[in-house]
Amino acid sequence: MYILGDLSREEFLKQYWQKKPLLIRQAFPDYQSPLSAEELAGLACEEGIESRLIQEQGGDKPWQLRHGPFVENDFTSLPETHWTLLVQSVDHHIPELACLLDEFDFIPTWRIDDLMISFAQAQGSVGPHLDNYDVFLLQVQGKRHWHINENDYDDDDFIPDSDLRILNEFDSKQDWVLEPGDMLYLPPGVAHHGIALDDCLTFSIGFRAPTRKELLIAYTDKNDESVEEVFYSDPELTLQASPGEIRKEHIDAIKKLMRLSNVDADKFSSWFGCFITEKSNEQEYENEELDESEFWQQFKDLGSLTRNGNIRLSFIKNEDSISLFIAGEELSLSDSYLSLVSYISSRHAIDYEHVMKCCDELAALDLLYKLYDGNYFFFDE
Ligand code: SIN
Ligand code: CO
Repeated sequence: MYILGDLSREEFLKQYWQKKPLLIRQAFPDYQSPLSAEELAGLACEEGIESRLIQEQGGDKPWQLRHGPFVENDFTSLPETHWTLLVQSVDHHIPELACLLDEFDFIPTWRIDDLMISFAQAQGSVGPHLDNYDVFLLQVQGKRHWHINENDYDDDDFIPDSDLRILNEFDSKQDWVLEPGDMLYLPPGVAHHGIALDDCLTFSIGFRAPTRKELLIAYTDKNDESVEEVFYSDPELTLQASPGEIRKEHIDAIKKLMRLSNVDADKFSSWFGCFITEKSNEQEYENEELDESEFWQQFKDLGSLTRNGNIRLSFIKNEDSISLFIAGEELSLSDSYLSLVSYISSRHAIDYEHVMKCCDELAALDLLYKLYDGNYFFFDE
């Protein structure tokens, strides 16, 4: 599928990425959500899944925020209008939704955060606000009226003493009604307000940009209060051959953001690769125990192997080897793995036939069995 309409990937990066909003009509024509609103509410009742319920009206106060896990009665007692349920990292739990993120392969995978899904009834919204991160807002069911403006705001512009950072006053400069399949891209800092016109499912494909502070705390294990929250940014991003690669120039940009000099380049790359692929939640999964030949036979028979949604995988090309980073661990591989590693880091569902085109069978078996045995990949039967 191609999701950028009339624009090429290069044109999108050059003209829009981290620069200006873009509306793409029918980016995902006829897309059917693998998850219904009821199933989303079901997820919001589970332990270990981050969810929020926002009620503009009808709660104990305006813009009431409640955190999950919820119970069924929380939903049955809601009014007809003016509320939104938001569930974070749905891609971690539903393989088909992890695969949806693969469509955004013009951005390096290490920049992708998660897929959040919201369900709103008529008039539901989370209020006019700004986010610090890039986002693609895909309308999946129902219609949502989006309003945006690109003004600068400061702390006084937000409603005081509220659980949510909502703008006091917001005048719409541009607006669109999004229908199923339409998608709106917003760079960080663009004020937006999306109001549901009817029962509405909206997918937010959210990006991550580590801050100087967050990076330094992880790197030094110390919290220096004077360090500023400056976000990583890459408006100059260009298309890369494999979205799974963490390119040298990006590692240099991270180093610059952290104001580090005189660090060992290889050690720093290893540290960053591990840091950026760390798991954000400890949802554990155990595969059926198989030996190498049973594993390979099953892969052949089923034709595909699936990455767990909470497992991040990236790689760095060294002078004459490859470092594969998976869930915070580093695996050193010879150059001959480049094509296989490029492939498996760019897709959540990997195909037997395609793997066989990447490298010789024994080498592929060796690596993929390790990844299966480590419970990073599984058979989605
Ligand atoms: C929503 O889906 O209602 C909110 C998404 C956002 O504004 O970031
Ligand atoms: Co937002």
